Order: sequence, then C-alpha cells, then structure tokens
Amino acid sequence: MSSLQSTMTVMVLYPEREGNERIAFEKRSVPQPEKGEVLVRVRAAGIGGQDKRIFAAEELGWRTKRRRSERGVISGYEFSGIVATGGSRFNEGDEVYGYTNFRKGGVTHAEFVCVSERMISYKPERLTHVETATVPTGCMTSLKALQELAGVTERQRVLLSGATGGVGIYAVQIAKMLGAHVTAQGRSWHEHELLRLGVDSFIEYTREEVLHSDELFDVIFDVAGIWNFDDMAPHLTSRGTFITTHPERDRFGIVSSYFTAKKSKYLFVAHGRSDVLENITALFDSELLEPIVGSVSPFYDALDEFDPEDRKIVGRRVLLIE
Ligand SMILES: NC(=O)c1ccc[n+]([C@@H]2O[C@H](COP(=O)([O-])OP(=O)(O)OC[C@H]3O[C@@H](n4cnc5c(N)ncnc54)[C@H](OP(=O)(O)O)[C@@H]3O)[C@@H](O)[C@H]2O)c1
Repeated sequence: MSSLQSTMTVMVLYPEREGNERIAFEKRSVPQPEKGEVLVRVRAAGIGGQDKRIFAAEELGWRTKRRRSERGVISGYEFSGIVATGGSRFNEGDEVYGYTNFRKGGVTHAEFVCVSERMISYKPERLTHVETATVPTGCMTSLKALQELAGVTERQRVLLSGATGGVGIYAVQIAKMLGAHVTAQGRSWHEHELLRLGVDSFIEYTREEVLHSDELFDVIFDVAGIWNFDDMAPHLTSRGTFITTHPERDRFGIVSSYFTAKKSKYLFVAHGRSDVLENITALFDSELLEPIVGSVSPFYDALDEFDPEDRKIVGRRVLLIE
C-alpha cells in the first residue's frame, strides 16, 4: 500500500438503537489481506436488500445477532474501488469491482475491504465507480438464476417479482438479453422505466394479484423473495422453473419439486466467480447492459439511504466512499 494508513472509517449498523444512533462511523484497523486476497480502497458501495434487512433488524442470522449486540454490524456486500495492496492477479492501482461472501457477512461499507481475487474483476471502462457499485450482486445473482439455473432461452416467458430493486433491474435486462418475454412486477410509478428497459408486460403488485392470473411462465424468478414453489407451481409451464432469492424460506418447495417435472432451484451467490464478473464487465463495455443507479449519497449521509418509505427509486442505492 503506498500510504501507511493503519486505520479506516467503517459504517456500523446498530439496528436496535433509535434514530440517528442506528448508524455510527467508527475507526477500525485497516484489514490485512490474506493469501489470495487484495486490499481495495472502496470508492463506492451498493446498499442491497440484505443491508436493509439488517438495518431493520429483520431475519438476522446468529452471527449477525451476536455481532449487533456486541459491536454492531458492518454492512455492504459489493463495491467498486482501487487496489491498494496487490495480489497475484491484480496490482496496486488497478480499478476493480466485486462482491463478498454473504455467509461471512458484509464488509464493504468501509474505506477499505480485503477480498479474494476470485471475487473481483477489472471495472468496466465505460462505467464510473458509482455505476459499477450497482453491478456485482444484481448481475451475478440474475445471471446465476436466469442463465445458469433456469437456462432461459429465446421467447421463453419469464415472470419477475421485485423488478425495480438492485437485483431486479439487472434481472430484467439479462432476461431480455437472453431473448425472453418478460413480465415484471413493480409499483405504478415504476412502469415507465421498466417498459423503457424492454419489459413486455407490467404488473402492479399493489393492485393486480399475480396469483389470480391464468398466464403460464417458463421461469418465475422471485427476486423479492415473496413467493414459494407450491403457490407458484400452477403458474409454471409443465417443465417450468421457480427460483427465489430466499430459498431458505422454501426448502420444502425444493424438496417437493424433485418429484415433479416443474422445478424449484436453489440460488445462492457466495463463491468466487471472477470469470462471470469478467463476462459482466464485457456486457457493460459493449453496452448490452445499462447501469442503473437508484440514488447516491455521501458515506456520512448513509442514514437517508435506509429510509424504507422512499419507494420511488429504481435500481441500487449507492454510497460514495471517497
Ligand atoms: N440468494 C442469493 O444468493 C441472493 C443474492 C442477492 C440478493 N438476494 C436477496 O434478494 C433480495 C432482493 O435483493 P435486492 O438487493 O434487489 O433488494 P432491493 O434492492 O431492496 O429490492 C427489493 C425489491 O423487492 C420489492 N419488494 C419488496 N417487498 C415486496 C413485496 N411484498 N411484493 C413485491 N415486491 C416487493 C421492492 O419493491 P418496493 O421497494 O417498491 O417494495 C424492490 O423492488 C433480497 O432479499 C436479498 O437479500 C439473495
């Protein structure tokens, strides 16, 4: 590392405190990269659904529960930044982006992050750090669900819930890129943007009940994590696939689908796949995907970005950490 900085500022969530006390900016030691890792100076980091749930003290795992009562929780699972201490593949000064292992908890809402070289790639040249910070989780998750697990092909009919969130906005684009007919669910004020991105059919989730529709889908990607296989199976074609971002809430569905032609598949993005990230970089650089930034806040104004009432935003919220 060119500078000898030994401490850094991290954002710490305290979900059980009140008001402004729920976010604190604290000094911590700059982490030291282990074998196979690089140290990255974070320039921008996305705020994902998982971060919002931690902030709202919802569905916390035992690790998070223990940490939040002891010393709060550092959030953030994706970032864009500059390598500060190189490794075997990436050198100091390289502009990179990537994600961290969900199972280990968040770390990227901080000035520095140590990350495996298998979980980063060079930043798309056409994109800014803010734009790039919206990409890793949304694109990795959507590609895994739609291409790898569901094998979406041209003209297949795909239904997406949560289409305007950080994952959904890339699921829409990737489903269209794969040639699918896309039905997306969102709020009325999101319709225009979803149609602009190529959505073929829009369902307003506060009014129209998807479960009452007669339409059949080859793939249902439940990005919002609100459905289960048994409820959605009648809306699948005879060999259709259901995938939810929260498979842990629908374990029974995955097991029961073993015995039917319709399938529920397990989605979890945690392993290092720099090859997939490299493909994603190419998709943005060749303008096949468009970065969608929901909003940007300076690091120290992060509290505004966790406002659950502000639902008009389309795409990932980003913290500028400079
Ligand atoms: N399994 C995995 O490997 C994996 C990977 C990445 C993410 N995830 C999970 O995937 C989920 C989505 O992530 P994200 O980053 O896209 O979150 P996000 O940015 O917060 O977006 C969530 C989306 O779901 C919508 N939504 C929320 N409640 C809804 C409801 N009751 N009915 C319909 N839509 C609803 C939201 O719309 P409104 O705000 O308008 O309500 C928003 O469009 C999160 O729970 C995250 O933890 C899982």
